[in-house]
Amino acid sequence: MQTKLLTKRFETPNSRSIETYLADGGYTGLRKALTTMQPAEVIEEVKKSSLRGRGGAGFPTGMKWGFVPVNSPKPKYVVCNADESEPGTCKDRELMEKDPHQLVEGLLIAAYALLSRQVFIYIRGEYWYLIAILEQAIAEARAQGFVGKSICGTDFDCEIVVHPGAGAYICGEETALLNSLEGYRGHPRIKPPFPAVAGLYGCPTVVNNVETFCAVPHIVVNGGDWYRGLGTEKSGGTKIFSVSGHVNRPGNYEVRMGYPLKQLIEEDCGGIRGGRKLKAVIPGGSSVPIMTAEEVEQATLDYEGMVKAGSMLGSGGVIVMDETTDIFMTTYNLIHFYNHESCGWCTPCREGTDWLLKLFKKIARGEGTTADLDTIKRLCPNIEGRSHCPLGDAAVWPITSAMKKFPEDFLKHVKPVAAPAAA
Ligand SMILES: Cc1cc2nc3c(=O)[nH]c(=O)nc-3n(C[C@H](O)[C@H](O)[C@H](O)COP(=O)(O)O)c2cc1C
Ligand code: SF4
Repeated sequence: MQTKLLTKRFETPNSRSIETYLADGGYTGLRKALTTMQPAEVIEEVKKSSLRGRGGAGFPTGMKWGFVPVNSPKPKYVVCNADESEPGTCKDRELMEKDPHQLVEGLLIAAYALLSRQVFIYIRGEYWYLIAILEQAIAEARAQGFVGKSICGTDFDCEIVVHPGAGAYICGEETALLNSLEGYRGHPRIKPPFPAVAGLYGCPTVVNNVETFCAVPHIVVNGGDWYRGLGTEKSGGTKIFSVSGHVNRPGNYEVRMGYPLKQLIEEDCGGIRGGRKLKAVIPGGSSVPIMTAEEVEQATLDYEGMVKAGSMLGSGGVIVMDETTDIFMTTYNLIHFYNHESCGWCTPCREGTDWLLKLFKKIARGEGTTADLDTIKRLCPNIEGRSHCPLGDAAVWPITSAMKKFPEDFLKHVKPVAAPAAA
């Protein structure tokens, strides 16, 4: 069963207007923070909440905010990562489309906590229709005194700018995003320094995902302990999962952290289409290891639970595959994506994903041998951990895990090659 917190207004008529938001208690978190809390107290509540970044890496949000130097003479920036390009993930889109004020309020509270006066929303170019929705929400909030000068009658000033990207997956990686926002090509930067210390224009910057910011008003209104109590000790709150593939009712589902993955698929999503059997799930967007049906049985939807079950929570894009799926073709599709989206900066990822794609194409044409599978197995560890940014790892995890867990789906596409005779 869903626990609707961030998604609770999705079905409300005219959910994106400020009137609807205010009637449901909207902007009380911002008012509370500005008039009754010190910035450091807001960060403390977020730390208590065990909120972890919803963009994929699951880094503790309060800890990240705590890294921003309080007394820096430079301006500080808050950047919302609305690039949402991870395959299988479409939760940020619905959050922005149906409840943009929740995001605006979360951004303003974050800016107050971090002593920032400038927020950027970096949104993927394909979401062009959401730009108008966000700009309308910002204009409505400004008219009510929530954006601009002297917010809520206090001395806190803050502006929000919406900036469209141009459709590159790599620009979702936070440092590539910052380069793109500065007007440069979207290549990832070396870390450290981390954005909290030297981010946008070399200034302290916090980058968080849309869903992460949307949780913040609820934490401020109800307290960090309350929010953590909705989930598990280390993975606080609720999380939205975008379920796609062979289920009867695909869509976005908000559940408590720690919710059983099997229950999400079978009860909330109505089970597998056509009464077929489950074969595999890629649970966190495509950049995580694939799971077998057996691994899904015991898996719980929290960061620790998913690692224990043999994968990762990632961005929460749950791709469900039934028994008719050819896992070789699934991974072929994915390596096509990663090769296309490799930014080309570093050799292991640029050349490695290209070589992998060529091998997959050869096998798909029916010309592959077991020696090609061995080459794929040797190539992957030369990309993983040796690339400039995590895209290299993301490109090979689905392949290495699929070859290990579904070897028969690969072997059926190739001809055996005899091992060289011993000398
Ligand atoms: C290749 C790549 C693509 C990414 N794409 C996104 C994205 O579309 N949206 C997002 O929020 N984070 C994305 N991330 C993660 C960001 O780098 C960063 O961790 C995140 O925005 C931090 O916010 P959070 O702590 O709230 O998760 C991506 C990371 C990589 C390596
Ligand atoms: S790993 Fe890939 S995406 Fe990342 S910097 Fe290297 S070439 Fe670019």
